[in-house]
Amino acid sequence: MKRIYMDHAATTPVDREVLEAMKPYFSEKYGNASSIHDFGQEAKDALEDSRAKVAKLIGADLSEIVFTSGGSEADNLAIKGTAFAKGKGSHIITSTIEHHAVLHTCEFLEKHGFEVTYLPVGKYGLVDPAQVEKAIKKNTILVSIMHANNEIGTIEPVAEIGKICRNAGILFHTDAVQSFGKIPIDVKKMNIDLFSASAHKMYGPKGVGCLYMRKGINLIPQIHGGGHESGMRSGTENIAGIVGFAKACELAGKNMNSWAEQEVKLRDRLIKDMLQIPKSRLSGHPEKRLPNNVNMCFSGIEGESMVIHLSMKGIAASTGSACSSKSLKPSHVLTATGLSPKDAHGSLRLTLGKENTEQDVDYLLNVLPGIVDNLRKISPLGGGE
Ligand SMILES: Cc1ncc(COP(=O)(O)O)c(C=O)c1O
Repeated sequence: MKRIYMDHAATTPVDREVLEAMKPYFSEKYGNASSIHDFGQEAKDALEDSRAKVAKLIGADLSEIVFTSGGSEADNLAIKGTAFAKGKGSHIITSTIEHHAVLHTCEFLEKHGFEVTYLPVGKYGLVDPAQVEKAIKKNTILVSIMHANNEIGTIEPVAEIGKICRNAGILFHTDAVQSFGKIPIDVKKMNIDLFSASAHKMYGPKGVGCLYMRKGINLIPQIHGGGHESGMRSGTENIAGIVGFAKACELAGKNMNSWAEQEVKLRDRLIKDMLQIPKSRLSGHPEKRLPNNVNMCFSGIEGESMVIHLSMKGIAASTGSACSSKSLKPSHVLTATGLSPKDAHGSLRLTLGKENTEQDVDYLLNVLPGIVDNLRKISPLGGGE
């Protein structure tokens, strides 16, 4: 059976060039970057060379990149690290549609003496910069608003929010796990102080990511030990993973525009044709959205059933976000945009990648209407009305 992968927001395949770049660092150049001998220096050179490549893609200085185990750790370091540096009683502003790596970190801090404001979003999932400004109080230390949403693909006005924060003397963190490598980012021009990214969402390996930390910012490390990463994140560096991440950044730097152009074409065709299916609607912003994201709600049916039926036809898709799709709760992102829990249950997310083709889209559009129709006929949610 044909197998088509349309779940790139969950994870991406490792690019062949990335894999080739990583290979020597498992069994030939396996030194510990902290060792003084030649093997160690080889690893250290690879580490610093990689740091420069990652920094280049966001317009940062290489000293401002801290390698982490991925996006979740980078979010935790940014938010807890700022909170503990400033002390209890301080106030954080975030939004209701953040990834759980941000939301659960904020909830944890609330239980430990910090104050958090969760800003609502409009029907397209946009955070209003004016509301960010209004929510700033005397004790506000940090604003954390994601660059692009993992479920609905909406791209937030981070440059505007960054400017507001900079003028108010407050740190601004953005979770850019879904946008990094897909759309251009310049941390300096966008007034971003802290920025989280993850390799496995951009054709790199799993288990590696980074936090950009603007020079001069003081964070409390969250992993203590041997003082790696300038004391910000202890633990022997995952050199093979980091080399792979850097290669993925290099490829994204070269190809981002052509990948996006191809994905936008496929995305827009998918959206146009899927909207022909009765009782369907698009979630997320019609224009301010990631080039690869389609999120549709089909009222009266369960997203999980659609995903299972598509999977039986060889298509990998998702409903809600990958980490929350096991839960029976409707997506917190979709309900925050005003969808009823019933409609939110009928969401289908297709996220494209550089290897998807027109033929993949033809195949999806060929099988999906029948699946929706059949599910509506048997739906206990009243889809067959
Ligand atoms: C927006 C966002 N933030 C953070 C993460 C977590 O990243 P990682 O899987 O690298 O920990 C994800 C992963 O789904 C994400 O989509």
